[in-house]
Amino acid sequence: MNTRRIVTLIAAALVVGAASCSPGEKEDFYQTDLPLKELMGHVIDPAAWKFWNYTGWIDDMEGTHSRIPTTEEGWLDAETGAVTTAEAANLLLLPARRNNAPANKDPDWEKFARQLYDSSMEARQAAIDRNEQAMFDTGGKMYEACVACHAKFLLPNLPPEERDVTFAPLPEVKAKDKREAMPDEPKRDEAK
Ligand code: HEC
Repeated sequence: MNTRRIVTLIAAALVVGAASCSPGEKEDFYQTDLPLKELMGHVIDPAAWKFWNYTGWIDDMEGTHSRIPTTEEGWLDAETGAVTTAEAANLLLLPARRNNAPANKDPDWEKFARQLYDSSMEARQAAIDRNEQAMFDTGGKMYEACVACHAKFLLPNLPPEERDVTFAPLPEVKAKDKREAMPDEPKRDEAK
């Protein structure tokens, strides 16, 4: 290989290198001062609960009650919870959060964050469709993304006595069975 060819190759490598490193990929381009624990506790967890609080059923002494929204504001609120969680999942994908502890560039981190994004966008669609069953099922999928990531990146870092989380699969519940259990609850046209 002559010298000119080597110089050309180096120049080409530099161009490729420069093109593939956009400002957004630089670790310090985004502000990530907030510790992950606080991002979870103050952003991701409340956002997910905003949605979850509108899903599922409560069985009490008086029978079964649906938690599905009953007003337009309620449906919009549930949708807000879903999209806030989806966009917050992107914060887990920022280079500084992917590269450093506890993620340490493990591809599973990205996988679980994308799983949370995808399931939250499905939850958004369930709220848009006013679909009671899909609200429950997509809420369950969101929960599974949280649990999967915690199983790998949170629990092993906790002292054994604090690993009291169970990983039982979520029960399958059918909206129509629940509806049959509550004949006195007003049927809502929008709730499928
Ligand atoms: C990509 C990985 C990942 C995903 C997805 C994820 N978490 Fe976390 N979560 C963590 C890690 C890691 C910690 C431990 C942070 C620490 O203590 O430094 C944590 C901690 C927490 C905590 C404890 C906060 C505290 O104050 O101790 C809560 C609550 C939490 N997550 C809720 C959720 C919920 C709800 C979801 C899903 C909607 C979720 N997380 C999704 C990785 C994840």
